[in-house]
Amino acid sequence: MSSINHVAIIMDGNGRWAKLRHRPRIWGHVRGASTVSNIVEAACEMNLKSLTLYAFSTENWSRPSVEVTNLFKLLKKFLITNGPKILQNNIQFNVIGNFRVLDTEIVKLIDELKDRSENNSGLKLNLAINYGGRSEIVDSVNIFLQKNPTIKEIREEDISKNLYSESIQDIDLLIRTAGDRRISNFLLWQLSYAELFFTNTKWPDFSADEFKAIINDVSQRERRFGGLINPVEGHNPKQNYLS
Ligand code: FPP
Repeated sequence: MSSINHVAIIMDGNGRWAKLRHRPRIWGHVRGASTVSNIVEAACEMNLKSLTLYAFSTENWSRPSVEVTNLFKLLKKFLITNGPKILQNNIQFNVIGNFRVLDTEIVKLIDELKDRSENNSGLKLNLAINYGGRSEIVDSVNIFLQKNPTIKEIREEDISKNLYSESIQDIDLLIRTAGDRRISNFLLWQLSYAELFFTNTKWPDFSADEFKAIINDVSQRERRFGGLINPVEGHNPKQNYLS
């Protein structure tokens, strides 16, 4: 069985993809939205447990307002078009990030899809919308402190339990498309032991075949989580190496 259960993706390169083709940036996002559908389908075919996609970060608000508006129009279209498919394919849909500040119609579509897919047992699909990794950790600590005002010391599980969604488990693999090698404030807590994979392919060109090949490739990696696979190998207990 593959050790890769939860994949997160930073879907980058839509703008550069469009620029190379002398088209407006939004054209890259439109093609990027089709890639989202293909990759979700591939994740279902591979029986992946969870897929978390970075659709809009808290930093993305600084883009020109026309791009922001178009991105949310695309999101709305995506929810309307893909909602029935998500339900049909037994996908459990979830959003992380503060989506409540968005247009009321989008909020309604998200809430409906979350509710209707709540009991689905297939792929857990998480869209990160208006999401920031640092804010998530700070918000979690504040929630914990509100619930436990007299507490003197905080434990790891106090933070994990109050993150945006308990259903977001640790990430096994983070993929970033389009060549940059950065985390960009994505899932800072949940990425602690993730394998990282950076591909030069820009998101609109990212195919189901490449996605599957990356997962197969990374499944072969030895993950040690800070320990050793064979703790005895390479140590002679009779020798004092440090004297
Ligand atoms: C990064 O490309 C992409 C985004 C900021 C948004 C991701 C959006 C999509 C994949 C399409 C819509 C998504 C859904 C879920 C409907 P970029 O614009 O930063 O590209 P660049 O770095 O080449 O400029």
